[in-house]
Amino acid sequence: MSWWRDAAIYQIYPRSFADGNGDGLGDLAGVRARLPYLAALGVDALWFNPWYPSSGADGGYDVIDYREIDPVYGSLAEAEKLIAEARELGLRTIVDIVPNHVSHLHPWFVAGRRELFWFRDRPNNWVSEFGGSPWTQVADGSWYLHLFTAEQPDLNWDHPLVRAEHEDVLRFWFDRGAAGVRIDSAVLPVKDPALPDLVDGEPHPYVDRDELHDIYRSWRQIADSYGGVLIGELWLPDASRFARYLRPDELHTAFNFDFLACPWDAARLRTSIDTTLAAHAPVDAPATWVLSNHDVTRVVTRYGREDTSFSFAAKRAGTFSDLALGTRRARAAALLAMALPGAVYVYQGEELGLPEYEVPADAIRDPMHARSGGVDPGRDGCRIPLPWSGDEPPYGFGGTPTWLPQPSDWSSFTVDAQDGDPESMLTLYRAALRLRRRFSGGLRWLDTPDGVLGFARESGGTCVVNLSSAPVEVPGEVVLASAPLVDGRLAVDAAAWVA
Ligand code: NOJ
Repeated sequence: MSWWRDAAIYQIYPRSFADGNGDGLGDLAGVRARLPYLAALGVDALWFNPWYPSSGADGGYDVIDYREIDPVYGSLAEAEKLIAEARELGLRTIVDIVPNHVSHLHPWFVAGRRELFWFRDRPNNWVSEFGGSPWTQVADGSWYLHLFTAEQPDLNWDHPLVRAEHEDVLRFWFDRGAAGVRIDSAVLPVKDPALPDLVDGEPHPYVDRDELHDIYRSWRQIADSYGGVLIGELWLPDASRFARYLRPDELHTAFNFDFLACPWDAARLRTSIDTTLAAHAPVDAPATWVLSNHDVTRVVTRYGREDTSFSFAAKRAGTFSDLALGTRRARAAALLAMALPGAVYVYQGEELGLPEYEVPADAIRDPMHARSGGVDPGRDGCRIPLPWSGDEPPYGFGGTPTWLPQPSDWSSFTVDAQDGDPESMLTLYRAALRLRRRFSGGLRWLDTPDGVLGFARESGGTCVVNLSSAPVEVPGEVVLASAPLVDGRLAVDAAAWVA
């Protein structure tokens, strides 16, 4: 079977993973030094958020040069070494490509290649994904389109050079040993060239345009010629529209945001799982199971809140979370996600049970905060430099000050503190990533009491998750549990794998 169909993929946010040169920013040297940690964790591949030179306006998603490494992270030669060293340890590398936009410092924009962007005499009524108008005026009075920040001008995908350039960039990274590509904002790049105003009830002028499929078909041919994998970031509420991108000659897989955003509720989770599996089956694509990433609230924080769902619109600073409760649920959710058929993603720090940390107002870096007029707290809280060891910042991360501040009470979250502790999140993740390999084949739901999810996999092996208000019987011998059994029964907000 193709490795990506049931892989565990670890997401590295390079700025916050590990700092090898002591400047307070993560880098490739930091990752290389920690490759044994990642191999021992039991994952199959590493997805790197953008590591290219960038103007720093949107956490690296404003790329100046796709064929280079940002000097703060290292060099291209070092990235090649990293890819090779990781592969030696059984870890494949996935790079991040951002087709919708480039940095305003990208040579095309700097050189005034207007035909490669969207310049108009006046703005339309579109809204930036980060809030406000997506139009910025330049010296001659004209305006350019940017669906994200003003430093991220949108590319004109009707122009053949834009297409050719991206195809070449794909080859560039496959030639350097990348095993896959994560495609950023994959439903946005193509626009209705008339750039019509948004009108309720009319087809959307820049989301999920049919022309995208042709682009991804040509990417698939390139990927196939290298045995590479294409992974889409497709925020699309409609499961059947989503699945169209996963037809056999298009993308291989895509992130499951429906599952990520789903509240901690048995019926809702079951519906999400069923909808996901039903949408993927006809196109024969594997599902993916994602609990968090660099854009969303940390999972232990989210599950400890009154509203356990995720949405960008509802994000507010200072929302109370019962972290002990959230952590119990996050442990159970990890066993659920890792028992389901398909691939699973682990965002760095999820394996440590890190909570969201709301950075002080003067340290906020994420443009979502400013562009929302300060309403949205931004995404820094899930991007804090990882704690590796020690009792105080920088917790073995590297130099100080770290680019985002770390909280003073994270000593119990460090890798060192959790290593070997039978009750730690890290120990649970290591065990689960190892044991999940026993699962294969389809899923069959079991008859369970209300509020309890139970399913068996074709390979044998059962997963039970208790979201009810009382302990429940476990149907067999427990192989792994997210919490100790209570009088032989599975506690509330706990999950178990049963032989
Ligand atoms: C999605 C990425 O995950 C996010 O971090 C970024 O801000 C936007 N796309 C724009 O590139």
